[in-house]
Amino acid sequence: MKKMVIGGVILIVVLMFATFFGAGDAFQSDDSVNSLTMIGALAIITITVATALKYVNQIKNDKATGDLADESWDGIGEYKNPVPFGWAIIFIGTILWMLWYFFVGYPTNQFSQIGQYNEEVKESNAKFAETWKNPDHDTLVAMGESVFLVQCAPCHGVDAEGIEGKAQDLTHRISEAQVLYTIENGQNSLGYAMGAMPPNMASGDDAKAIAKYIADGLKGEAPAMFSACASCHGPDGTGMGGMAPNLKEYDETLVTHVLEHGKRGEIGTMPSFKGRLNPTQVKAVSAYLSSIKAGE
Ligand code: HEC
Ligand code: HEC
Repeated sequence: MKKMVIGGVILIVVLMFATFFGAGDAFQSDDSVNSLTMIGALAIITITVATALKYVNQIKNDKATGDLADESWDGIGEYKNPVPFGWAIIFIGTILWMLWYFFVGYPTNQFSQIGQYNEEVKESNAKFAETWKNPDHDTLVAMGESVFLVQCAPCHGVDAEGIEGKAQDLTHRISEAQVLYTIENGQNSLGYAMGAMPPNMASGDDAKAIAKYIADGLKGEAPAMFSACASCHGPDGTGMGGMAPNLKEYDETLVTHVLEHGKRGEIGTMPSFKGRLNPTQVKAVSAYLSSIKAGE
């Protein structure tokens, strides 16, 4: 027993030294919190070593006493030990806590990062809608410009003139080449109520005359064959109130359709922006596109 106590004290001293040198510079300042930490370390090490010694001593020297239970398993008996009170409390408490945690404190589905993200997006959208409930025209144009610069300028250019013809020049409604391409190939990418535009609606000189007329902004007298187009696009080419695309300008209906469905055409493919812009932003971008055309 004496030997064990001496061993224990040596162990405590060794562990304290190890702690002191292991923690390095941390204890070399005269910060009182660091000294407290050392006192804490001493307490923990002493308690640990003392507890370990107590049990080692018990294993070595204790003789079993008490009443044996009736059961005997192949000669191995069991003492009638009552369940330790503290252990029983913790055991039952853990089960109760588990039930509380599972059903009340933290039910399944209560939290997820995705759920939290969605909620925050919803909140932010509601705040956005509330803040910009009735924006005036100038506000829309300004908002449209900033959306355009971030979302659209990489393809359409900061001045909306298209970058080396790789996306449409949005300061001009449509080019002759694009109209001719559409007349020849038809088009079905914008999702208008009227559906697809059939191919080969006109040909040869007729088609060229129509294309020039449209590209020039439908001014002056329409070529005779334009009547074939007017049945869907309207006599003035503005799309009969949203049934077919407005050929004269980028009105809100057209921009909304393009942003929702994307567009495949003569120049290339524009991706859909579905879900990436909210209705106010779509309206703002349309207002912005109209404003740059008006200002040219
Ligand atoms: C049957 C109805 C119909 C007729 C007739 C018609 N179009 Fe169209 N046109 C459409 C529809 C619908 C679209 C949109 C197609 C889509 O969803 O992409 C369209 C799209 C277009 C576009 C592309 C607009 C854009 O910016 O994407 C051009 C240009 C066009 N039409 C020109 C003409 C011309 C020129 C004629 C006459 C030769 C004509 N259309 C006749 C229904 C018609
Ligand atoms: C990845 C490149 C790209 C991005 C980004 C892009 N566009 Fe486009 N956009 C195109 C291309 C290519 C066309 C021409 C499609 C064709 O061949 O008719 C086009 C055409 C258009 C047209 C004309 C469609 C028609 O029917 O005449 C509009 C309007 C338009 N874009 C608006 C926008 C707006 C607004 C944004 C930003 C929210 C945007 N685009 C972002 C590539 C892009």
